[in-house]
Amino acid sequence: MSHEIVEKNVGLMALLILVVISVGGLVEIVPLFFLKSTTEPVDGLKPYTALQLEGRDIYVREGCYLCHSQMIRPFRAETERYGHYSVAGEFVYDHPFQWGSKRTGPDLARVGGRYSDDWHRVHLMNPRDVVPESIMPGFPWLADNKLDGKLIKKKMRVLNMLTRATCNGCQTYSDEQIENAPSELEGKTEMDALIAYLQGLGTSISSRR
Ligand code: HEC
Repeated sequence: MSHEIVEKNVGLMALLILVVISVGGLVEIVPLFFLKSTTEPVDGLKPYTALQLEGRDIYVREGCYLCHSQMIRPFRAETERYGHYSVAGEFVYDHPFQWGSKRTGPDLARVGGRYSDDWHRVHLMNPRDVVPESIMPGFPWLADNKLDGKLIKKKMRVLNMLTRATCNGCQTYSDEQIENAPSELEGKTEMDALIAYLQGLGTSISSRR
């Protein structure tokens, strides 16, 4: 029987397994490149402002993603707690996305607008001042560090390049926006930037259950 030939010949079996997995993989992956819902922004989604962009980099630098995910799964327990589940078109301006997988703290995908700026300021200085049982560390230095804005123009140009390469129907930054970016950051602290970033998260899909 031909099946026996395959089972008794390790090389042939490995080859055939490779063929099966490759075909299976391609059938799943290739259509995603042509699916508009993964490459088009959801309605109302805006590119990050210069201040939010700096905040996003601080989020990454401080390792917030090690305790917080930004991806609400389409399960009742998640949507009851956090709001509408995350959709691909919300992340078209994220390079790289901050979905994460570790949830020592709550998911942050829709935290924008849930608390006031002042709440975030107090919480980020010392979380236990507002949530007594919190185990989140404080990040008080963010309030002392001023943004220097040296790299912001470069960051925006690179993002334009990535956006053009990966997204259909996304907005890119105009030359004027890029020129004005450093002045938007003047006098702002890292704390201001991080809060501006947090307050924008998930707000394009506002319907909460
Ligand atoms: C060691 C793990 C840990 C790290 C690192 C961490 N957090 Fe948290 N975070 C938590 C925990 C636990 C909570 C829930 C208790 C609380 O609200 O303080 C939380 C809560 C929050 C909340 C409130 C969410 C809600 O829906 O109530 C925000 C906003 C937040 N964190 C932002 C951040 C940011 C921004 C950073 C990085 C500067 C960060 N966290 C770093 C563990 C962490």
